Amino acid sequence: MVKAGKQGQESGIRRPKTLQEVDCDSEIRFHTGLTELDRVLGGGAVKGSLVLVGGAPGIGKSTLLLQICSDLGKNLRVLYVSGEESESQIKLRANRLNVQTENLFLLSETDLGTILEITQEMKPDVLIADSIQTLYSRENTSSPGSVSQVKDCTMALMQLAKGSGITVFVVGHVNKEGSIAGPKVLEHMVDCVLYFEGESAHNYRILRAAKNRFGSTNEIGVFEMADSGLREVPNPSEMLLSGRPTHAPGTCVACVMEGTRPVLAEVQALAARTTFNVPRRTCDGFDFNRAILLMAVLEKRGGLNLSSSDVYINVIGGLQLDEPAADLPVLLAAASSYREKVFDSGTVAIGEVGLTGEIRAVSHLSQRLSEVHRLGFTRCLIPKQGSAKAEAPQGLELIRVRNIREAIEFTL
Ligand code: TYD
Ligand code: MG
Repeated sequence: MVKAGKQGQESGIRRPKTLQEVDCDSEIRFHTGLTELDRVLGGGAVKGSLVLVGGAPGIGKSTLLLQICSDLGKNLRVLYVSGEESESQIKLRANRLNVQTENLFLLSETDLGTILEITQEMKPDVLIADSIQTLYSRENTSSPGSVSQVKDCTMALMQLAKGSGITVFVVGHVNKEGSIAGPKVLEHMVDCVLYFEGESAHNYRILRAAKNRFGSTNEIGVFEMADSGLREVPNPSEMLLSGRPTHAPGTCVACVMEGTRPVLAEVQALAARTTFNVPRRTCDGFDFNRAILLMAVLEKRGGLNLSSSDVYINVIGGLQLDEPAADLPVLLAAASSYREKVFDSGTVAIGEVGLTGEIRAVSHLSQRLSEVHRLGFTRCLIPKQGSAKAEAPQGLELIRVRNIREAIEFTL
């Protein structure tokens, strides 16, 4: 039987503490030298936290983590453990990335027990484990990379981070189904989960947080893979709009908030006569169900006969537009393609679309308008609702629209 009260305390049984009794150090953060990464982490890495960096093989996870060693090494001791490359291979890569520090220690090892022993002895400030799929615990008989091994190793690294205040970065390869070592087995265990994404055909990479115990998950970091490693892209809009066709129907520029930053991106749509009984809809970079809803609104409230057209929607640059303000540009891109009319390339569209075809107010309008202006656009469609006080930067004409009919009639 469990004994309560004084007796319990004397025999070493822990009791819950009141809020006042709990001691805590305030959160200690350090910068990684990459502003884009710091932003996604919520303002730098937190001491004693475990950050999982996931992504497809070859996307640049090892490059990212080796690259930050240069700056981390200025003040902190870093142990980089690789189960994938030999020490000399890592050194070659470090040379290429111009990583020069005396505080970086390399270890090629896959046995978790050995890694933990060496870490306890060396007491680094930061441990990088690349990758979790290559590590194995001797206490577990299943093979490296199996769900139970990956779980055990992550748990041990988590205990190391919490117990000794070491900040741990763990690389996790994402398999074809898009989850790290099986069905997202690690996400609930760790403090932060960052995904590194990109299109193989392009050099840019987007880092986003799927989970962050110490910050928001809205921010994205944008990089470009160059010969000498990852280069930060502080103004992603320029990159996302580069190479945009200006005289073709079926394209419209959106402005969405990615965390605290407004970002411009091109939405393309193709409406083509269908040969199916049920018209096809496909989406890349935009929510599929939202697109179906918008196409229905466009048909019913905008008077476009889309039920005889397949509609394909694509957001250029690998960005996922999951913000209501992207409704209007998606809808206008589809209408532009359907009508075969070019949407003016100097115009941006911002607005949420409701089921009656009304254009609804969006947040952060003035911030968005400054970004639209900064990129040289001359006109911007905005919701009439809630925008009475919005002022346009000089040289940017605001077109306030109440519903999708007004928006279509004005632009197409
Ligand atoms: P890598 O970091 O090894 O990917 P991951 O750890 O996610 O599997 O990145 C490998 C790719 O990056 C590879 O295709 C080569 C390319 N790369 C560059 O283009 N420039 C560089 O400076 C480096 C180090 C890699
Ligand atoms: Mg790697």
